Amino acid sequence: MPQPRDSIACLERIADIGANREESILLDKNERVAPFPADFFQEFLNSLNSTTLTQYPDQSELYRRLADLYNLDTDQLLLVPGSDAGLKYIFETFSKESDEIVHLHPTYEMVRVYIAMFGCLPKAVGFSSDLNISIDTLVNALSYETKLAIIANPNQPTGTLLTLVEIEMLAKRADETDTLLVIDEAYIKFDLETSAIAQNRRSENLCVLRTF
Ligand SMILES: Cc1ncc(COP(=O)(O)O)c(C=O)c1O
Repeated sequence: MPQPRDSIACLERIADIGANREESILLDKNERVAPFPADFFQEFLNSLNSTTLTQYPDQSELYRRLADLYNLDTDQLLLVPGSDAGLKYIFETFSKESDEIVHLHPTYEMVRVYIAMFGCLPKAVGFSSDLNISIDTLVNALSYETKLAIIANPNQPTGTLLTLVEIEMLAKRADETDTLLVIDEAYIKFDLETSAIAQNRRSENLCVLRTF
């Protein structure tokens, strides 16, 4: 029987929670916890027809609206099926075996999974016992060997938030070391002021992930 690559074979497959779900709220899955407003949901249902479900959608209007919303050019945006897929595309596009990847620890678990899956080398930056992170340690963790630095901001499960000044320090270091700095903003709604999106115009080595 054909065997998968070692880096895939060593991964553990986690059972799908969908089928026998007992908890109603899974905060660690970043699910929306409030129902959609009834009129909005009805409008969404009314907009569906057979074609909506059978044809590839025209995404151009969505790209235009998101570009307006975030004050970006449409070619600075890429729609992907969730941040998780976005992270995987980043590994597929930029990393090769034995590349060094800087990340927080603990953080979103899929970072560790992709590092293993793509045969990269983790360089974890940990937290103090009161769940703070030293920005100097984090900045200095980026070396000329670092291909990607993946930072969830806010981070989960710690809830730690880097300030815009700290993100700027990281972006500057990423420019020096030619590292792709990935800021995962899955939880940015808790503090929109610290979004790194505005910095996208200043640094070519910055990629921001958002999920809706
Ligand atoms: C920090 C973080 N990034 C990304 C994701 C995945 O987001 P998506 O559901 O859009 O793939 C999660 C989901 O738990 C997350 O906690």
